[in-house]
Amino acid sequence: MVRYHRTLFLLFMWQIGDLKIDGRAVLGPMSGFTSRSYRDFMKPFGASLCFTEMVSDAGIIHGQRRTRGYFDFSDNHPTGIQLFGHVPEDISEAAVKALEINPEIELIDVNMGCPVPKVNRSGAGSALMRDPKLCGDIIRSLKRKTDVPVTAKIRLGWSSGSINFRDVIGELELAGVDAITVHARTRDERYAGEPHMDMVEGLRGEMSVPLIISGNIYQLDDAINAMRITGADAVMVARGGVGNPFLLTQIDRYFRTGERLRSPKVSQQIDWCLQFMEMLIDEIGEEKAMRKMRCFAPRFIAGCHYSRAHRNNLATNVTDKDSLLLFLENIRQELGNERIYDNAAADYSDFEEVR
Ligand SMILES: Cc1cc2nc3c(=O)[nH]c(=O)nc-3n(C[C@H](O)[C@H](O)[C@H](O)COP(=O)(O)O)c2cc1C
Repeated sequence: MVRYHRTLFLLFMWQIGDLKIDGRAVLGPMSGFTSRSYRDFMKPFGASLCFTEMVSDAGIIHGQRRTRGYFDFSDNHPTGIQLFGHVPEDISEAAVKALEINPEIELIDVNMGCPVPKVNRSGAGSALMRDPKLCGDIIRSLKRKTDVPVTAKIRLGWSSGSINFRDVIGELELAGVDAITVHARTRDERYAGEPHMDMVEGLRGEMSVPLIISGNIYQLDDAINAMRITGADAVMVARGGVGNPFLLTQIDRYFRTGERLRSPKVSQQIDWCLQFMEMLIDEIGEEKAMRKMRCFAPRFIAGCHYSRAHRNNLATNVTDKDSLLLFLENIRQELGNERIYDNAAADYSDFEEVR
């Protein structure tokens, strides 16, 4: 395969519109995961840009209470808010309102990739890609009504029979989009299988705006390959970052200096898990936080062949903070302080899109 060649050690800074982004690792939006505490926890590991999980335009327009939580950025910048909807005027009205509620929002991203049937039936998410012109109209409307950079997150198309990302990119560029994230799968593929990096080979060279590339970024080499193949400006870390925050550091450091940092020790992973637990409790209280930790905690020790029983315990038997502390300390004692975390065999197929 012919690879897209470009100097791998890039300047740290790149730009989305006039927004300066310092680093090549971007934290992707994930419903049910990328809340404020998660973004704040991940930021210092090397997230150059964060996104909220997707927020419905109707929820913002009608001022739903749950929606307001999405606007709390603490001092984590730059952070973009991701909107979903399908009517250009509604999305831009929601964006204007969002900017009134939190004038610190630095970027508006539009979800054009969500594969959830309920979202698609309303015409939003990846259903938008069936109408490239409409995709452009949404961006045009946002550009008219707001003065922050506007980005879009797309897939390759609806299905293998309707791959149309180049048409959609063309319409988005004409409308004045400031950057585009491409998740290199079709809507029908949801999150399964290998992303089609071959289809997006050299894509950045065809584009007039920055490209963020997404799909199975689980290890440093996945990031290096995705950047090399596509020529993208940055790589998006999504499932691969859950329980493995150091992946952001490895990617960030590599693209600054060429240095390959070794994986952390499991005992370090446990410390980070506890740190995140405290941040999540601060955000949503212990009861809700512990329900979520059943999903997060096993991932901090994922992939290690010795960890299956421990992971099951973490996923099913955690009831409160004390039980989580106890399980994690047991794991630490059993594995000792020197065992290296190794996610090579981790399973990323069981992520639920929680709304
Ligand atoms: C549980 C889950 C929730 C997601 N939520 C969103 C979302 O709200 N908005 C969005 O644009 N993408 C969302 N995504 C897609 C991710 O941002 C990312 O593009 C995708 O998972 C591919 O990257 P990965 O294979 O490295 O995980 C979600 C993915 C998962 C697995």
